[in-house]
Amino acid sequence: MSFRTDTAYVEDVSPGSGVLPPRAWYAASDAKSLSLNGSWRFRLSDTADAEDDSFAREGYDASGWAELAVPGHWVLQGHGSPAYTNHLYPFPVDPPRVPTENPTGDHLRVFDLPGDWPDRSDGGAVLRFDGVESCARVWLNGAELGEFKGSRLPHEFTVGALLKPAGNVLAVRVHQWSSGSYLEDQDQWWLPGIFRDVTLLHRPAGSAPDFFVHASYDHAAGTGTLRVDSGALGRVSVPDLGIDVATGEPVTVPVEPWSAETPRLYDGVLAAGGEQVPLRIGFRTVELSDGLIKVNGRTVLFKGVNRHEWHPERGRALDLATMREDVLLMKRHNVNAVRTSHYPPHPAFLDLCDELGLWVVDECDLETHGFIEQGWRDNPVDDDRWTPALLDRAARMVERDKNHPAVVVWSLGNEAGTGRGLTAMAEWIHGRDPSRPVHYEGDFDCRDTDVYSRMYLPHAEVERIGRGLDGGARRRRELPFFLCEYGHAMGNGPGGLADYQRLFEAHERLQGGFVWEWIDHGVKDERFGYAYGGDFGEELHDGNFVCDGLVFPDRRPSPGLVEYKKVIEPVAIEGDPVGGAVRVTNKHDFADLSALAFAWAYQVDGETVASGALPVPPLAPGESAEVKLPEPPAAAPAGEAHWTVRALLAAGTAWAPAGHVVAWGQFAVSARPRPSVPASRGPVRGGSLITLGPASFDARTGALRAIGPVAVTGLRLDVWRATTDNDDGAPWQSDVRHGPLWRELGLHRMRHRLDAVEVAEDALTVRTRVAPAAREFGLSAVYRWTADATRLGLTVSVTPDGDWTVPLPRLGVRFGLAAADRVRWYGGGPGEAYPDSVTAAEVGRWQSDVDELQTPYVRPQENGARAGVRWAELGGLRVEGDPEFFLTARRWTTEHLDAAAHLTDLVPGDTVWVNLDHALHGLGSQSCGPGPLPRYFLRAEPARFSFVFSAVPA
Ligand code: GAL
Repeated sequence: MSFRTDTAYVEDVSPGSGVLPPRAWYAASDAKSLSLNGSWRFRLSDTADAEDDSFAREGYDASGWAELAVPGHWVLQGHGSPAYTNHLYPFPVDPPRVPTENPTGDHLRVFDLPGDWPDRSDGGAVLRFDGVESCARVWLNGAELGEFKGSRLPHEFTVGALLKPAGNVLAVRVHQWSSGSYLEDQDQWWLPGIFRDVTLLHRPAGSAPDFFVHASYDHAAGTGTLRVDSGALGRVSVPDLGIDVATGEPVTVPVEPWSAETPRLYDGVLAAGGEQVPLRIGFRTVELSDGLIKVNGRTVLFKGVNRHEWHPERGRALDLATMREDVLLMKRHNVNAVRTSHYPPHPAFLDLCDELGLWVVDECDLETHGFIEQGWRDNPVDDDRWTPALLDRAARMVERDKNHPAVVVWSLGNEAGTGRGLTAMAEWIHGRDPSRPVHYEGDFDCRDTDVYSRMYLPHAEVERIGRGLDGGARRRRELPFFLCEYGHAMGNGPGGLADYQRLFEAHERLQGGFVWEWIDHGVKDERFGYAYGGDFGEELHDGNFVCDGLVFPDRRPSPGLVEYKKVIEPVAIEGDPVGGAVRVTNKHDFADLSALAFAWAYQVDGETVASGALPVPPLAPGESAEVKLPEPPAAAPAGEAHWTVRALLAAGTAWAPAGHVVAWGQFAVSARPRPSVPASRGPVRGGSLITLGPASFDARTGALRAIGPVAVTGLRLDVWRATTDNDDGAPWQSDVRHGPLWRELGLHRMRHRLDAVEVAEDALTVRTRVAPAAREFGLSAVYRWTADATRLGLTVSVTPDGDWTVPLPRLGVRFGLAAADRVRWYGGGPGEAYPDSVTAAEVGRWQSDVDELQTPYVRPQENGARAGVRWAELGGLRVEGDPEFFLTARRWTTEHLDAAAHLTDLVPGDTVWVNLDHALHGLGSQSCGPGPLPRYFLRAEPARFSFVFSAVPA
């Protein structure tokens, strides 16, 4: 016997050989199946040809090999390391050649057939791989089955004739790099391995080789038409609809339609030969009409997210519970659409989208972004030699996913330039499935697509498109528009979501967008908390650009997701407190409001003094009504009053329990009395101290020392924040990026010059100038202190001088407290908020401890501010603001936060550092998109703000 080590297939542009044509996903067919997931034997080599194929033969002794969990990536199981690049290929670009150093994993699994496995006279069997990165060669019982590429696509082999009752040897050789890697340059970790299920499936004699469920809905007639095509004679039954027809035969009956808001599925069965395939049928029709994407006759507004598959320990090997968690989290946060960036997900995810209701843009496993480095020269999508591979990818996606009602748009791929290969894919898809529009962002002329799609456009440009003023190719001008990516959720942010949503809702052509992205791809790592690019010694990497999600790696929602939930809420509740009514608008596209119950609360100074149910009619989509509020409670105490009206789930749904808050609105009834201190005490010098009411100051420097029993250190003006990823901006951007500019100008190292300490009868005044070394611009900061017997007032007056060319990161005071744990406040909460991400901040009474105030961005940066704070108590101090302020408290300094690269770098010190900010610069989305809108700039302008401090029991 001779053994081969030929590896030509690795670099061959063909998609593979020996593989069966693609077919639909047969979820839960009653044909026998055997999962081959579990513990496999594993051996890693450095090159594709280091080992011959003798390991595939029967009787090979692999007992000395490691054990590896399949599905899984070997680099996350102690063999080699993950590597992250955004768009750069981590190998020389010389298509289709790949490096000699090509980590190659040999996987081996010996299995027996279950006792009841049908015998060979009853049909055959196929071996299915749902996902292998990036190229696999497969043997069963020593016989080579073939090899394939297309990492996130299914591949099957006929194996019936090779199976034995016991001791079957399945051998799979997986190469990290192959020609296929050129087509898989998505912005994510490079993670080789058999990362999705491996299954042996019996195929009973006469069973359908494939099936295509056509289930359309005629919204005028209220009927659905069902036709199930299959390559076999069979019957289709849907008991709830009284349907029992032959395959290929259409039938029209009255039905309830499927939509993401009302995901009505009918259970059916396709019976062919000895197999029963359960069907979950959703009747819906997607069409392009009046230049809009319509489903069941109505225009749809996508409130979407881009979802990569991610688990912090298992990478892209996701279990069902994790997939379900994603869908539940999305539904609970009012997300109604998913773009499967940038490859078809595990097929079970689409079952969940059908069941729980999400619109899906299903994207093909294709990206060649690295070719941009050479002006797209030699781009595989514009080279006919690669077209069979592209068509193979398109077919594997469409055939697998065609039966999901949730899938409403096909996407050719992402960032692959333009070329004939893309056109060929689009033509093939249009021919095979004319029932869904085709999307691709990379060709702004929309030659092959049915929707004009862009990413990260600034608001103004989106508005121009909404108004039809963007020009462009004629074909494009007639198409609907969505942002396939926007709101780059890297680190603290994104800002500006509400401003986008207003545009989407104002212009019909704008059919919404998909925030980039769902989850941070941090790798759990005890060295760092979560690792990102560079943490595994990669020679090329893109750092924490891989952590840009709305949920943290452990799927905890970030403040960005909480903001997004509020921004896209499907019910608008707007106040007209003067008229004693609210205007409720149903912003759903399909559902009326009958699933919701409404509740009101009347709050004074953040405390609810009365509450009750609010009867709201079951408004149809788009309808709106004035709903009277009750009379304000007669016995309400004086103070700042608010109405808060919430829309809650009246009963539990498949995705959230009864009482889950879907939308809310809050409106002020009366204004807050402004806090002030009548200056009934004057400053008194005594030795090295000046006392003023409850406070003492250093007589020489005017520095505050204590308020009553509470020691206070370092109170002074602060303009610096640990720059966010959005402050720093993406290096390729030509727009001004404030983070680097602030640092260049020295805003992180401001010096405070003491000009005067003035003791007057009613006030202590400290005059300073705050400016960085080497610059002539600065800020004059005057602190004016007044007091009565128990309270200390501070008014800070700031006047910029010189040539300020940049906005300020923040403007306020900071100080240290020796101890603080619990924090109580009245103002915006419960979570973090910044000027352009503040919609979700609800005015109320909140409490937290200092640790919980921190938002654990994977790369530490400015975080944790609470907005609109009227008063706060912490560490034995009470602070009232005039006007309201942003509150931040942390166990480390801003400088420490700024220097940290990972969460594990943040070590609590003895002091709690408190920032009371009059204002903060906006967040924007410049880590990939536009910066904050000008109205969220914190300009260096004269400002004055006041606080009243007093000691309270800690
Ligand atoms: C887009 C790209 C995404 C991701 C994003 C930045 O250009 O399509 O895959 O890289 O930018 O996070």
